[in-house]
Amino acid sequence: MEDLILENGEIALLTINRPKALNALNRRLVENLAKVLRDVRHDQAVRVLIITGAGDRAFVAGADIAAMSEMIAVDGLEFSRLGHRVMQTIEDLPIPVIAAVNGFALGGGLELAMACDLIVASEKARFGQPEINLALIPGFGGTQRLPHRIGHARARELIMTGEMIDAKTALEWGLVNKVVAAEQLLPEARNLAAKLAGKSGLALRQAKAALRASFTMEEDAGLRFEQSAFGLVFASADRVEGTKAFVEKRQPKWRHK
Ligand code: CAA
Repeated sequence: MEDLILENGEIALLTINRPKALNALNRRLVENLAKVLRDVRHDQAVRVLIITGAGDRAFVAGADIAAMSEMIAVDGLEFSRLGHRVMQTIEDLPIPVIAAVNGFALGGGLELAMACDLIVASEKARFGQPEINLALIPGFGGTQRLPHRIGHARARELIMTGEMIDAKTALEWGLVNKVVAAEQLLPEARNLAAKLAGKSGLALRQAKAALRASFTMEEDAGLRFEQSAFGLVFASADRVEGTKAFVEKRQPKWRHK
């Protein structure tokens, strides 16, 4: 798959690789993304996944507009369904996913970043949902995930005006976790990934699932979900080790079970 590069390891790095088209997502690329994510899911050695874009201009500048200009109505529906499946797959991965946003994260690119758990951005990053300028609307989850992340007022502003915001504004709005100099982007993302890889994988998995419930469930059901997830974590060997290690004033040794 030349449009995707996966570097395996405890911290896996997935690069969207169509720099000439600012890493725009066409159907084949999104299908390949689904396949790669399946491989990552089944690779027990991977503890954290970082997703970034090739080149120094874009993370992903959105869905491929040239390809969409050739599509008939029913293709658009299928494309949106495919995109949604991939975004949900990322949210359902049992490991944390970090988006390292090196440039434009527009349309489907911002939607991809928002499906990740944490977003680290370069100072050069730009964010937006410019679909309205094509007489389109966000199709890979933006109308739902953006208000969830930055509130309704700002989400409406971005989706209805189609205007972009810079990295500093994205940080102020709580869209991203950190902004660093361009050359520090991958080192910083790796740093963060190493921190996460040092936690109990089992506890992280349950934390991620419970956080996702705050997006997919009503509050009451979400609170019940948290109770079950807490109970599950409580039954783990890592919980016994983690609480014991604290009492014995030593570092814990995780078994991820
Ligand atoms: N699809 C296809 N090709 C794209 C693209 C996209 N989304 N974005 C950029 N490209 C291509 C350009 O066509 C250009 O190709 P050529 O060199 O062959 O002409 C190349 O990438 C470089 O782009 P520009 O010359 O336009 O670079 P720029 O610096 O002048 O502008 C930009 C950069 C502001 C990001 C501009 O490229 C742009 O506005 N891109 C489109 C952004 C957009 O509208 N994204 C939303 C798409 S719709 C969507 O994503 C729907 C959804 O929710 C699923």
